[in-house]
Amino acid sequence: MKISLLGGTGSFAEGLVIRWAKAGHEVIIGSRTQEKADAAAAEIGAKAKEQGVEGNIVGLENGEAAKATEVVVVCLPPEYTKGTLEGISDSFTDQVVISPVVPMQFGKVVSYNPPEAGSAAVEIQNTLPDTVKVVSAYHNIPAKGLANFEKPLDYDVVICGDDDDAKALVVKLTEEMPNLKAIDAGSLEVSSMIEAITPLIINMNKKHKHEFSIKFI
Ligand SMILES: NC(=O)c1ccc[n+]([C@@H]2O[C@H](COP(=O)([O-])OP(=O)(O)OC[C@H]3O[C@@H](n4cnc5c(N)ncnc54)[C@H](OP(=O)(O)O)[C@@H]3O)[C@@H](O)[C@H]2O)c1
Repeated sequence: MKISLLGGTGSFAEGLVIRWAKAGHEVIIGSRTQEKADAAAAEIGAKAKEQGVEGNIVGLENGEAAKATEVVVVCLPPEYTKGTLEGISDSFTDQVVISPVVPMQFGKVVSYNPPEAGSAAVEIQNTLPDTVKVVSAYHNIPAKGLANFEKPLDYDVVICGDDDDAKALVVKLTEEMPNLKAIDAGSLEVSSMIEAITPLIINMNKKHKHEFSIKFI
């Protein structure tokens, strides 16, 4: 399967890129510039090689990356997500778009700061063509954990979305990453609740100087 990660040059994308390349997918790192996309593809490609992955990782500008793939992961900063997607909306047809985007406000405590639409995922769905299927996932996994191949990724991944086939695909892509378990929490409207767990985890991490993971039993 072809998967692109928009803003894939940032810290969050790295672990997903390597893990999906390792699972045999063709992965495209998206960026605002071809130059930065190429540099990230080379750098992450070298790290992937250490994990026994050869090839399968290339870089493209965000619009070209989205156009070329069946699955698009939005790894953009929350404040620039809507504007960036509006600028490349003609690259979208009927892709499955995964949103791990968590809008937060950083003060004495870190708090959830949703857009007017209610959540980042609903805003993304409203911004892109109706034929695109948005699935919310991966908000509660830290970038460092995803990119750490020494420690098992022992997390539950809560997902939600309005299209059952798209959610089934995201469950499959999630569970191809060893030790991750996906749990379907329902429609895309639920995303605000999933997104809001992340600032809670960050506040807990700060207080206890620990990296908490999330599991439901
Ligand atoms: N970091 C985490 O632990 C974590 C955990 C869960 C969820 N998330 C979510 O994952 C997403 C990505 O997080 P991140 O930490 O990887 O973000 P990031 O490093 O701040 O940014 C990712 C990429 O976005 C692009 N970008 C920066 N400014 C931009 C702008 N003004 N317009 C368009 N693109 C811009 C940059 O790529 P180019 O310069 O190459 O275009 C950058 O490398 C966020 O929505 C975050 O909420 C992150």
